[in-house]
Amino acid sequence: MKVSLEGKKVILVPYMKEHVEKYHEWMQDPALLEATASEPLTLDEEYDMQLSWTQDPFKQTFIVLDKELVVGEFVHGDPHVEAMVGDVNIYMNDLDDAEMAEIEIMIAETKSRGKGLGKESVLMMMAFAVENFGIHLFRAKIGESNRASISLFQKLGFEKTSHSEIFQEVTLELPITESKCEELHQLTGNLP
Ligand SMILES: CC(C)(COP(=O)(O)OP(=O)(O)OC[C@H]1O[C@@H](n2cnc3c(N)ncnc32)[C@H](O)[C@@H]1OP(=O)(O)O)[C@@H](O)C(=O)NCCC(=O)NCCS
Repeated sequence: MKVSLEGKKVILVPYMKEHVEKYHEWMQDPALLEATASEPLTLDEEYDMQLSWTQDPFKQTFIVLDKELVVGEFVHGDPHVEAMVGDVNIYMNDLDDAEMAEIEIMIAETKSRGKGLGKESVLMMMAFAVENFGIHLFRAKIGESNRASISLFQKLGFEKTSHSEIFQEVTLELPITESKCEELHQLTGNLP
């Protein structure tokens, strides 16, 4: 599905091959690798990963563009690498529950943090997932020391459901009730 979603502060665009080089640069940072529980990849592996993510029917990945950094007009289908600051994705990986999606957010560019981009990206991704895939439960797995991310998800109504000593991570969940669904619809309805 090749769509772009425009919010007030961000535009979510599909992860394209033009984004891979910068994405790979970000993922050289040990702090980001740890925060996202990722393994370092070579550039070739990152290109393979981009391809596999775009072909995986259970995964949806968007690159987050900071609208303030878009040069000129936003053009649909253009990667706008100059404005890419992070990514948001969902993974429908529960074989017993097709309506559950694990959600992840990363605002890699430090200058773009603390401006509400992470929060807006997660909300837009959730609205997209509810509307297009009938998702009724979101789950986020976060390192127990990642206060910023835990706080972001809690602000959106996620609640802790478990804690893993082994992985040193917490699981937070948000069931999409009728009122939450309405909230998300209103949000997308009010977007530009
Ligand atoms: C965590 C992260 C996604 C936050 O994104 P962001 O765009 O900076 O966050 P926002 O500006 O949208 O903030 C939303 C909420 O998150 C929380 N938050 C964000 N940064 C925070 C910080 N440094 N300390 C504490 N809480 C923080 C706050 O509750 C904030 O709400 P508020 O603005 O009402 O106070 C971003 O810092 C990041 O990508 N970090 C590295 C990667 C990572 O940890 N990813 C998550 C892996 S699961």
